[in-house]
Amino acid sequence: MNKKGFIFDLDGVIVDTAKYHYLAWKDLADSLGIGFSEKQNEQLKGVSRVLSLQKILEWGDMKISDEKFEALMAQKNKEYLDHISHMNETEILPDVSRVLSFLKSANQPISLGSASKNARAILEKVNLFDSFNAIVDGTNVTKGKPNPEVFLVAAKELEMEPTKCIVFEDAVAGVQAANSAGMISIGIGKTEVLFEADYVFSDFTEMSNEFIEELINK
Ligand code: BG6
Ligand code: MG
Repeated sequence: MNKKGFIFDLDGVIVDTAKYHYLAWKDLADSLGIGFSEKQNEQLKGVSRVLSLQKILEWGDMKISDEKFEALMAQKNKEYLDHISHMNETEILPDVSRVLSFLKSANQPISLGSASKNARAILEKVNLFDSFNAIVDGTNVTKGKPNPEVFLVAAKELEMEPTKCIVFEDAVAGVQAANSAGMISIGIGKTEVLFEADYVFSDFTEMSNEFIEELINK
C-alpha cells in the first residue's frame, strides 16, 4: 500500500482565517498611518507574527522600541482573537472535510503545518483537532516560512521522508518552504500568485479524489 505524508497549512487552506489576519493587520497599520496594498498583503500570508510586523514597519519606514513592538503584536493578536472567537465548523473551507475523509479512508498520514500560534485553538473550534496524526504549528518551530522547518518537523512526526510529503498552501512563503523541504507543493489560490507551486487549485472543490489517488501512487 502506497503512503504519502499530507501536510496542510491552516490559515487560508483549511479555514478562511487569512481574512481575519488581514483585517487585524490593516487596522493596526491604519492606526500607525501605514497603508499596504493587496499585493503587499500576499507577502504577509504564511509569515510569522514577528516578521509580519517587521515588514509593515519597514513599509512605513518606521522604527519603534522593543516594548512598543511587543505591545503592537499583542494589539494585533487581540483583534485577531476577537475575530476568531465565534468560529465554528461552518468556517471550514469547501471540500476540506471531503479531502480529509478521503485521505483517512486511504490510511494516509496527515499533519498540520502552520505558522500560527493560534492553530490548535482554531482546530478545536472547528472540531478538526482529531483529524490530524500530527500537529506542528508556530509554537513548535523557531524559523518561520519560507524556512522549511515547520514542514520538516511535520514529516518527522509522520515518520515520512520529506520527498514523500505533499503540502497544501495558500501562501507564497509556504509554497517556497515546501519546495525548499523537497516536498510536492500544491497551491490553493491564484496561479498568478502561487506560480512556484507544483500544482495550483483555486480551492479543494477543484481537486478530485482521483487526483489525490495519483499523488498517493506517484
Ligand atoms: C499564518 C498566517 O498561518 O500564521 C499569517 O498566514 C500569520 O498571516 C501567522 O501571521 C502567525 O499567526 P499567529 O496566529 O501566531 O499570529
Ligand atoms: Mg496560509
